[in-house]
Amino acid sequence: MDYQAILNIIQKEFKPNRDMGNAANYIPELSKVDPLKFGMYLYCKDGSSYQFGDSQEKFSIQSISKVFTLTLAKELLGKDLWKRVDVEPSGTAFNSLTELEREHGIPRNPFINAGSIVVADALMSTLENPKQDLLKFVRKLCGDDNINFDESVAKSEKKHGYRNKALVNYMKSLGNINNKTETILDFYFHQCSIAMTCEQLTKAFMLYANEGKHFQTQEQVIAPQSVKRINSIMQTCGFYDEAGEFSYRVGLPGKSGVGGGIVAVHPEQYAVTVWSPMLNKKGNSALGMKVLEELTTLTGLSIF
Ligand code: DON
Repeated sequence: MDYQAILNIIQKEFKPNRDMGNAANYIPELSKVDPLKFGMYLYCKDGSSYQFGDSQEKFSIQSISKVFTLTLAKELLGKDLWKRVDVEPSGTAFNSLTELEREHGIPRNPFINAGSIVVADALMSTLENPKQDLLKFVRKLCGDDNINFDESVAKSEKKHGYRNKALVNYMKSLGNINNKTETILDFYFHQCSIAMTCEQLTKAFMLYANEGKHFQTQEQVIAPQSVKRINSIMQTCGFYDEAGEFSYRVGLPGKSGVGGGIVAVHPEQYAVTVWSPMLNKKGNSALGMKVLEELTTLTGLSIF
């Protein structure tokens, strides 16, 4: 497969369409990013890699971080985690409050904000230094120590994060949050603020394309069974109320973030990241969705 030729076609085809949608503005710091940025990086299991555009520039990974925290929490807590968060698609927006009341404070899945906040709470109760331990884990996955929180993004979200505060407090009132609201939000906003390049994200996500093994050292970091489960949740819940649309168009498990990044995984083949900051109405990168649809169309490869 000539992946570089396919990426070149994609770059040429979609570069003129970078201005579809709107960059996230509810986190003011994110609206400072040039909305026309466009990068892509694909890494194959055989060690070959392909890229174009702004693939080496860091951006805010936002909800993509939820995959890392879920992976850590699942390793540390095992099945107990599922007593506090479900694995069903929500069909509602990533920051929705509506189902929580009906479902007694148990979030539908670990990728909506409520679910990831419960995961954050579980990590805070288990890890010695939650923020540093998370960074250490992500750095290890991509074999690169040059990964940090973006303090200005974390601060910006904290200042405007009324919705997430409501989610924590509501779940706390129903007994599904153990730590203090402020400390959980501090951890959650920091996890979302992690800044990474398309290359770094792709390499980290090779874990889910390589049976739980590190892309470089081949160390077994998580069990293949965990990969099956996390990829399944990405497939059904990774794009919130657009999970069906992403699955229909792209045919791969993936995860988006309001920083405009999308990572997708072809198990046993490759991981790929696209970055284009302008978002559609569901909060997913508008161009990123189209690019990945074109990738699986041109390669003729998806999981289905
Ligand atoms: O909690 C929030 O609203 C953001 N820090 C993350 C949301 C997000 O990335 C949704 N994904 N597309």
